[in-house]
Amino acid sequence: MEVLKARALTKVYGSTQSGVTYRALDGVDLEVEKGEFVGVMGPSGSGKTTLLNLLSTIDKPTSGSIEINGSDPAGLRPDELALFRRRELGFVFQDFNLLDTLSLQENIMLPLVLERVRKQEMLRRLQEMAELLGITPILTKRTYEVSGGQQQRAAIARAMIHSPAILLADELTGNLDSKSASDVMNALKDLNERQGASILMVTHDPFAASFCKRIVFIKDGRLFSEIRRGQNQQAFFQLILDSLSMLGGRSDDIPTARA
Ligand SMILES: Nc1ncnc2c1ncn2[C@@H]1O[C@H](COP(=O)(O)OP(=O)(O)OP(=O)(O)O)[C@@H](O)[C@H]1O
Ligand SMILES: [Mg+2]
Repeated sequence: MEVLKARALTKVYGSTQSGVTYRALDGVDLEVEKGEFVGVMGPSGSGKTTLLNLLSTIDKPTSGSIEINGSDPAGLRPDELALFRRRELGFVFQDFNLLDTLSLQENIMLPLVLERVRKQEMLRRLQEMAELLGITPILTKRTYEVSGGQQQRAAIARAMIHSPAILLADELTGNLDSKSASDVMNALKDLNERQGASILMVTHDPFAASFCKRIVFIKDGRLFSEIRRGQNQQAFFQLILDSLSMLGGRSDDIPTARA
């Protein structure tokens, strides 16, 4: 079963008044199966964030359709859309986006507070997520008392605590050192493997991408190629580097090996 299905997604930026337009996405088809862990890679300006903004219903496509967990968000009113987004989607960003006036556990439980979930059930789910993400001992700390990797794992817990249909992540290791990035990606992998979480992640980082089960590459707003991971992560990492060099792009987009 697919949790996400995008058909012929096209996004044209620009005004009809000035006549200057830019086709940032051009006929992209993308499916994410339940329990899949998919990466999206491509050179700077290839349309990755544009794609994620459309899939996350933050922006509307010029043409094409999106289905999330069997529903098409296109026809929803703004208030319905906000609710749809809150229930069906989880988000993680490069800069963590945690509230620093709250403890980590208060941050994590926030989506459940909004849904008026009972206290006992909140605490049960908090414990479950914290255990899975390895942040149980630091739950009462504030953001400034913990590392970037710990903050990002708390952000993942917050994004997943209400069991959304899919987790959408944009460069979630972008602000992390390699040890923290490794911790975060291992946590995400556990979430995918043990909880069957469906994940779509945009990244520049081939090391982070090597945790995915499948990677789609986009170039100039179109799907360029796709690779699948076998048993060996190191081999997949190498395949990602090879695919990126096939893809081309600006030289500063071609990453160097890490780890
Ligand atoms: N709001 C906008 N108005 C006009 N053009 C835009 C807008 N947002 C993005 N673009 C253009 O669309 C193209 C795709 O941008 P997008 O941000 O999706 O790329 P990206 O793949 O996320 O790049 P990066 O890796 O640098 O984050 C770029 O050429 C960009 O300049
Ligand atoms: Mg981007």
